[in-house]
This record gives sequence, structure tokens and C-alpha cells, in this order.
Amino acid sequence: MKAKRRKLNNTRVLVGITGSVAAYKAVDLIRRLKDEGASVKVVMTDASSRFITPLSIELAAGPGNVFCGMFDNPMAHIELAVESDLMVVAPATANTIGKFAQGMADDLLAACFMAYRGPVVLAPAMNWRMYESFSFKENLTLLKERGAFEVEPEEGPLACGEYGKGRMASVERIVEAAKAALCEKDLLGRKVVVTAGPTREHIDDVRFISNLSSGKMGFALARAAAARGASVTLISGPTVLALPDGVAFVPVTSASEMREAVLEEAAGAHALVMSAAVADFAPSVRLEGKGPKEDIEGGLSLTGNPDILAEAARLEARPLIIGFAAEAGQDTARAEDKRVAKGADYMVFNNVSDPEAGFDVDTNRITVLGGGSPVSHPLMSKEEAAHVVLDLLIPEPGA
Ligand code: C5P
Repeated sequence: MKAKRRKLNNTRVLVGITGSVAAYKAVDLIRRLKDEGASVKVVMTDASSRFITPLSIELAAGPGNVFCGMFDNPMAHIELAVESDLMVVAPATANTIGKFAQGMADDLLAACFMAYRGPVVLAPAMNWRMYESFSFKENLTLLKERGAFEVEPEEGPLACGEYGKGRMASVERIVEAAKAALCEKDLLGRKVVVTAGPTREHIDDVRFISNLSSGKMGFALARAAAARGASVTLISGPTVLALPDGVAFVPVTSASEMREAVLEEAAGAHALVMSAAVADFAPSVRLEGKGPKEDIEGGLSLTGNPDILAEAARLEARPLIIGFAAEAGQDTARAEDKRVAKGADYMVFNNVSDPEAGFDVDTNRITVLGGGSPVSHPLMSKEEAAHVVLDLLIPEPGA
């Protein structure tokens, strides 16, 4: 049976808003959750309504979907708890996190939390001194140990005028965490190494040879594997993408740096997913500074890069290896040849001349080669394609 994944569509999300200057961002969060197909109910603490009015929140959440007073409906805390699939508290203050951890139920949100049994996402927002305080850290750790997921705050200028770690995470990160919280943890206990992006092969200090890879497929793979509970190492060439939460990141530039990182990380990993577009050649000599144009015009001598995948496949305790073959055209034969020649277990073929499946787009149309006949999948988001690829790590019953 394939992994059961949960998207946010048809999910009942209970959003808790507490008293922080970041409370206004909850409007955007509620809209984004609804855009993803979730139905949203909101509980606001008294302090949060000092920062944003229940009316503004109701305009985002819809009429009748905002709850404030503990005694407006004495059973609301139980009904809301039982009727929610996911609880997201954003912003989450030190006070509310303290109440959650210590078993207090003196307002509607804390009472809901105590009665609720599903996945919880907390997005703390506070002054950095409070974030670093012993009591807060202890409370947060306790909640995390019990399964709550923290979307760590970001470092930056704070409302008090100080600078530090305490700004609530971006709405994008909170939505990602919400999706991850709903994912079945079918890769728990597995180490998955993912390569992503292009490599850069320097001609001199300012010029390089590279390719159009954006890293989007690899980052989606790392994010999806982490959401499914894997311990993930993402080895990536230069990209402009935001780092996924909960992933160990190894930045590299050249193919030879990527090779070193892969060989170190792949030993002992369960799976290596090579979505990086490794440059095939590197200049034989790297010039210093900005080399004179004439030296380069005369002809660039190139040397073939090491085939990282093939080398990883020869490791003694090799992980399961999934490669990506970006081909211009529909024919999968070359990709299958590559799979065999390099020693990959699977090769994921995609046609980069297809505008919906090429570099730097958010969608892909993949064909999985290996383990029997090729399996072609329809156009889907790179996020969905990532889950399809990761399903290869979950053996079918009886297989
Ligand atoms: O570039 P090519 O189509 O041969 O890439 C297929 C697969 O091999 C990809 O998974 C890529 O990450 C990997 N590769 C590699 N080292 C190279 C070239 C490609 O590991 N030098």
C-alpha cells in the first residue's frame, strides 16, 4: 500500500492566535490555509484581540468561525478540539506555550489544546530574551517531546527595537509545517540524502560553467522526505531557494565538492536521491582572479567530471540509489541505459524540453525506470512528484 499522505484539502484546521505583534499575519495564514482547501476555525486569546480585532479575523475565516470567550458556549473547547484534524498556533506566545506545557486551561485556546489529540504546529513569536529563557525553552522542549512541531522563529529586528531570534516564521513556512504535520511518518528512522541544483565549474573567480537547474525538484524531495519523518541531508549547488525546515544542509559549488559530500553522507544512508544536475565538464585549469579574456578565447580546455552516482553505486554498503535523467525528448531509452550503466536502482526520466517539466518550473511529468516496466505519471507539482519518488523507498506488501 502506498503511503497515506494528507494534503490540507478537506482538513479541519484550528488556528490559535495569541497576543503578539505578529497576530496580524494570522489573516494571511488563514487565507493561505483556505486556499489550500482547509476549513478553518479560529480561537483568539484576549491578548491577541489587542493586536487584531476578531472582526478582521472573521473576515478571513468566515462568519461564525472565530471563537474568543471561554463561556460564550461552555462546550466550545471540546467541540473545537474534537472537530479538528490539525491545530496551528501562530503566533504562539511564551505565555500560551507555558500554559500548554503545564496543563493550564484557563482560556478557550488552552482548554482546546488540552482536549485536542491531533498534530500541533507552534509558531513562536517573542523577544529573543524570552525565547532564550530557561522556562520557555523547557516548556517548548516538553511540548516538542510530546509531538508538537515548532516552526522556529527567524532572526531580525524585533518590535521592541532589539535584534534577535524571535520574529514569527513566514506564513509560507507555517503552511509547509502544517502540511508536514499531516504526513504519515512512513520514512521515520531512515536517512535520506538528496542532491539538488546545478554545480558550478569555475573558469576563474568570476566566470563559471553551469546549467539551468533551479534546485526546485531536489528541495521538494528534501522537504517531502523530512515531512515523512526521514532524517534528511540536502547537498545542493547554488540556488536561490529557501532552506526547508528540519533538514541538514550541505552547500557545495563544484561537482568535486558534491562528490566528496555525497560519498561521505551516502555511507550509512538508506537512500540517495540524486536530482542534482551535475555539470558534465569542468575547466582543466582554474585561472586566478578575473582571467584575461584572451586566455579564455584561445580555447577552454575541459575535463570530464567524476560520475558521482556511479561512484556511490560502487560503495560497499550502498544505499538505494535513485537518479534523475533530464533528457530533451520523449524517448526514455537513454535514461534506462544510464540507469544500468551507472548502477542506479531507479532512474526518474523527465523531458526538459517540455515547458511544464523542465528547469525552474513548479511542475514535473516523470517516468520512473527500474524495478519492472516504466511507470509514467501525469503532470503534477514537484511536491507531488517528490512523494511519488519517495514512495519507491516503501516496499509494496508481498514484494
Ligand atoms: O547528467 P546525466 O544525465 O548523466 O545524469 C543522470 C544522473 O546522474 C543524475 O541523477 C545526476 O545527478 C547523476 N550524475 C552524477 N555525476 C555526474 C553526472 C550526473 O552523479 N557527473
